[in-house]
Amino acid sequence: MCGIVGIVGQTPVAPLIVDALKRLEYRGYDSAGVATIENGELARRRAEGKLVNLERRLKAEPLDGNIGIGHTRWATHGVPNETNAHPHFSNGVAIVHNGIIENFAELRQELMADGYEFTSQTDTEVVAHLIARELARGTKPIDAAHAALKRLNGAFALAIMFKGDEDLIVGARNGPPLAVGHGEGEMFLGSDAIALAPFTNSVTYLEDGDWAVVRRNEFQIYTMDRVPVERQRRQSVGTSYLVDKGNHRHFMEKEIHEQPEVISHTLAHYLDFTQGTSKPLDLPFNFADIDRLAVSACGTAYLAGLVGKYWFERHARLPVDIDVASEFRYREMPISRKSAAFFVSQSGETADTLASLRYCRKEGVPIGAIVNVRESTMARESDVVMPTLAGPEIGVASTKAFTCQLSVLAALTIRAASQRGTITAEEEKALVRSLSETPRYAAQVLKLDKQIEKVSRELASYKHVLYLGRDTNFPLAMEGALKLKEISYIHAEGYAAGELKHGPIALIDENMPVIVIAPHDRIFEKTVSNMQEVAARGGKIILITDQKGAAQATVKTLETIVLPDVPEFIAPIIYALPIQMLAYFTAVFMGTDVDQPRNLAKSVTVE
Ligand code: F6R
Repeated sequence: MCGIVGIVGQTPVAPLIVDALKRLEYRGYDSAGVATIENGELARRRAEGKLVNLERRLKAEPLDGNIGIGHTRWATHGVPNETNAHPHFSNGVAIVHNGIIENFAELRQELMADGYEFTSQTDTEVVAHLIARELARGTKPIDAAHAALKRLNGAFALAIMFKGDEDLIVGARNGPPLAVGHGEGEMFLGSDAIALAPFTNSVTYLEDGDWAVVRRNEFQIYTMDRVPVERQRRQSVGTSYLVDKGNHRHFMEKEIHEQPEVISHTLAHYLDFTQGTSKPLDLPFNFADIDRLAVSACGTAYLAGLVGKYWFERHARLPVDIDVASEFRYREMPISRKSAAFFVSQSGETADTLASLRYCRKEGVPIGAIVNVRESTMARESDVVMPTLAGPEIGVASTKAFTCQLSVLAALTIRAASQRGTITAEEEKALVRSLSETPRYAAQVLKLDKQIEKVSRELASYKHVLYLGRDTNFPLAMEGALKLKEISYIHAEGYAAGELKHGPIALIDENMPVIVIAPHDRIFEKTVSNMQEVAARGGKIILITDQKGAAQATVKTLETIVLPDVPEFIAPIIYALPIQMLAYFTAVFMGTDVDQPRNLAKSVTVE
């Protein structure tokens, strides 16, 4: 949610800031802006909409200046227009902000009573005025920034620049991430290491409650009580990231096609294919010593966790409590001492998931993070990091991160089952062997693209779509619906197939396509009965099944997508691909912005 950048450089920084913002655009793309100090004065260019609009603006009206800050916005307070775009100015102060200032209304009243005029509807503008008021009272810039920071409640990452000081940016973090990047005679600030990758791979992450004074040749981090602190300097892996679509039309398409490879990398990290065993993990507990697992996540990552619940309970006989993190964090769930807690997140920064993690930290249970960004806050605050090796995921709709999360959860299930003695060595080998075949099957499924594209053309003509599945295909049904609605804007719902007759069946008619995810498993027959119920009411069925299922489904379908027969354990990973492809092609036919769908952001650092 919003990306921020700051550079205290040696050459004009505006083009560099735009370059960094391009790498942050996944965080929000409602509007963007850059401010520099040009001939001793604060100057800015802002534009509504995508970053290209700002680039156009800068081309027409370039900005000079060797110091600057930049922002790409995901609107929280105030519509996405140029007036609400950052940077915000107030009497010699320029500011960019990611997050939400929760006490902004009260501060706004106070500042208005003091004669400050607000030009935007944002919560951010109060911060600019607060600092400007301190300056007007004769306070020096760094002290003024610190005084203002102490008045703020909520979640924020900030970069602040002052007219009259071309060697100073103040950064602050309370919630959303912020990193200082170290250069030679230049210094950087950014929301993540990917943004800073073109400039440096040496970064220092601020911790919550930290703020920093950043100059060309030095920097100092302080706590909110102004105690200087040292934070670990790290080598980021950001520079190796290739943020490039290759030959694909969209990042989402590229990321769907990367799945055989990234699933394979991820699995190889956790499994010894030669021995047919799970590799030892550096877990701070043994699965045999716990009697419950709490899992919490948001969106697609939550649905991966839900598939994990079925796996852990079935194979490791380990009960799993799973919640969406926005509920978990407030529902004060009692957590037994004999529990462990896992958090699943692509970004490792999602505010609700992070808050849930911190709740469990207070409860004193061991914490594991399944994250794609290894330098993320969740990774740093966990006892053990269980990485997904998906590589950077740029498309806002999660695809390869999801199947890599499933891969990690599957490998962890095997580890748990082996430690708890709920599977034999032979069964462990069989499960590992089945996972080793996942990349091959995934590659076969990708070859069904022409057929899936054809069905998607049909799907694009409907207003509502229902997805049904049982067992691990129930979370997949919800994931299919989520993916379709977020990128094609077609209304879609995912249900447990057995729930159909408890309400949703009322919706079925010839205008309601029903996508049924049903490999030929133990409960295939039950799902066939549900399909009969749909067919009897004129519903149009798109069946995603395997060869056995296709042969035995006695129902007329609009289309049957036939996947290879795969072992039941790995089916959720393989069946994720056709549902991603269906959503992708449908969105392409709808003509939507596939990689950056409206109203969404890749990293949700506000609650
Ligand atoms: C959907 C999607 C979102 C994310 C959710 C959690 O395609 O991408 O639902 O899964 O916002 O994000 P992370 O995984 O970064 O915590």
